[in-house]
Amino acid sequence: MITLRDVTTVFSTPTGPYTAVDGAHLEIPAGSIQGIIGFSGAGKSTLLRNINLLERPTSGQVVVGGTDLTELSVEELRRARHGIGMVFQNFNLVNNLTAAKNVELSLKFAGVAGTERRRRALEALAIVDLADKADSYPAALSGGQKQRVAIARALATEPAVLLCDEPTSAVDPRTTTSVLQYLADINRDLGITTVIVTHEMNVVRALADHVAVMEAGRIVERFALAELEAGTFTPATAIGAHLVADEIVLDRRRTPVGAGVTPGEEAHHG
Ligand SMILES: Nc1ncnc2c1ncn2[C@@H]1O[C@H](COP(=O)(O)OP(=O)(O)OP(=O)(O)O)[C@@H](O)[C@H]1O
Ligand SMILES: [Mg+2]
Repeated sequence: MITLRDVTTVFSTPTGPYTAVDGAHLEIPAGSIQGIIGFSGAGKSTLLRNINLLERPTSGQVVVGGTDLTELSVEELRRARHGIGMVFQNFNLVNNLTAAKNVELSLKFAGVAGTERRRRALEALAIVDLADKADSYPAALSGGQKQRVAIARALATEPAVLLCDEPTSAVDPRTTTSVLQYLADINRDLGITTVIVTHEMNVVRALADHVAVMEAGRIVERFALAELEAGTFTPATAIGAHLVADEIVLDRRRTPVGAGVTPGEEAHHG
């Protein structure tokens, strides 16, 4: 369904070229949920934005549903993007439009007629249990509700692919569960191929079928959740081991800042 072949994205910065994504290969089967995990700055968002060419890779191929997006004309790409919904890291809602109008906006861009838009927007809001908030403005919605409006907006055009960038980074643990449940339901009921970027292993554990671990622009590990659950996955990299262990280990007996560290009492991590 989605194939990334040797995708590289180089940004030009004041200090010279910076490689944010470095030779990424990824095959994402239709209807599956792919997790992309890694620490801040690893290149996750850039790689996700490479999939709909919101960030055009410097080199490599991005094949979605059999079409290499990098070879499309501007107009062809615009149309192809209607089949790819995106949920952004920070919601990206328009503040002076109601929830329903925010959802309608994506339908408008997709060329859906005005009369049809309201009906489809309400349908999408109903999927995320927000029919009753259709006429509320973003300021009157909680973080989790805003996140669900963003999901409804991404779903309204009935995409075959849903790209989610940290869809639960701004919500509390209970809301995280409900947002992830919606994503799982949508994947199951609508068969949408979903790619979810996160730095939280518990999000990946709850939702993903396959996981790619990113570090410094590269995909350094790949595994199926089934391997993880069966205990047959052995991380090959330190970052993989760290993420899989998924523990916060603090040294509560740490030497006060400024004092000398007694040999043998250094903080142990991992
Ligand atoms: N437009 C840009 N110009 C220059 N550098 C960029 C640009 N966008 C991203 N970068 C750099 O590329 C690297 C990867 O950024 P990216 O946003 O993909 O990371 P991320 O893994 O999503 O991080 P986070 O978890 O913090 O969201 C970072 O070092 C970032 O500073
Ligand atoms: Mg990011």
